[in-house]
Amino acid sequence: MLSEHLVTMLPTLVSKHRDPFCAYIYDLKGLHRHVKQLVSKLPINCELFYAVKANPELPILRELAPLVHGFEVASGGEIQHVRANFPETPIIFGGPGKLDEELNLALSAGVETIHVESVYELERIACIARQSGRIVDILLRINLSSLPDGMTSPIAMGGKATQFGIDSLMVAYAVEQALCLPSVRLRGFHFHLLSQQKSASMHLKLIDRLLSLFREWTLEFGLQGPCILNAGGGFGIEYSPPHHHFDWNKFCIGLDELIHQHDAMHHKIRFEAGRYITAACGYYVTEVLDIKKNFGKTFVVCRGGTQHFRTPLAQGHSHPFSVIDIHDWKKPYQRLKASNCDITITGQLCTPKDVLARDAHIQSIKTGDLVAFPYAGAYAWHISPHDFLKHPPPEQIYI
Ligand SMILES: Cc1ncc(COP(=O)(O)O)c(C=O)c1O
Repeated sequence: MLSEHLVTMLPTLVSKHRDPFCAYIYDLKGLHRHVKQLVSKLPINCELFYAVKANPELPILRELAPLVHGFEVASGGEIQHVRANFPETPIIFGGPGKLDEELNLALSAGVETIHVESVYELERIACIARQSGRIVDILLRINLSSLPDGMTSPIAMGGKATQFGIDSLMVAYAVEQALCLPSVRLRGFHFHLLSQQKSASMHLKLIDRLLSLFREWTLEFGLQGPCILNAGGGFGIEYSPPHHHFDWNKFCIGLDELIHQHDAMHHKIRFEAGRYITAACGYYVTEVLDIKKNFGKTFVVCRGGTQHFRTPLAQGHSHPFSVIDIHDWKKPYQRLKASNCDITITGQLCTPKDVLARDAHIQSIKTGDLVAFPYAGAYAWHISPHDFLKHPPPEQIYI
């Protein structure tokens, strides 16, 4: 689960960094290999954008910028962050509740497409573009009333009533409005219906449906030229062993077949993935501060906790981890140890919800050892409530 490289490096890192140790560690070489491989498998007319919200750390973006087709952003802050550091990288802009200020920023940043969440937003975009004398390329973000049979996700943005996208029953009206507005150019449709899809076959069923709707609508509404189908992100990471993540190779083979079946070779098919791109390159590594028994259960209290690493709480799971045996012990007090038992790993917060892993079996763990949580490179540090209790933040280490 942990790369051998990381395991051998950790004792040295511990001696060089803060006491007690607590850090996010990112494997940038691993990230590079992974993303290169993802992009290389895609059919020729497909593009992979990175959803910056998953992890906007600069070294991560620097590694990704030359590999992906561009960055998907969802706020003015993300636009500024990306543009200040990557003046040339293509940006696409989505998300609900866009402010006028953000739309103006998007236009001046030269975004490739804006993903329109409602008919009202469409009118606002058109008005703001007209005022600045620009024509802006847009995709209409569409929500569907259902997902393909058997498809479920704990994080569904669509396939049911949600705040995201335009109701598919209103597509004709929305397109009609868009086609009447000279300052917008309708380039196609956007769908991001769910996250954490772990089955490639299921996802192919969804893409089949999206390609079918895309073909129907581009023909029915007479959209000109190569159009864009943005099929969102949502490729899943299996946090529990045996870690059967989304099968990208299988997906790309099936995707190629579907693109041919739906005669979509001359259109652009875009994806904007977050979790699947960066989750595996990051580790949250923290030091054991205390080991105690409470009514027969063993609790291991670590530095930090869910205010640094909210992923287990957000996903509602017990996060996998490895214990790293640290031999050095220079403290003037005794070292506690627990062996061959089930432990619950918590952090330093004053809430019983501050649990990272529950009832997990270990061979041995001591105060001063490290606990390393993998799959912490996406929706981890950046979705955590850093200010709660004002404990110091973890370090960010790039190897
Ligand atoms: C519109 C949109 N696109 C892409 C993503 C990235 O999703 P994921 O990280 O599941 O690939 C999200 C995540 O919330 C999103 O809201």
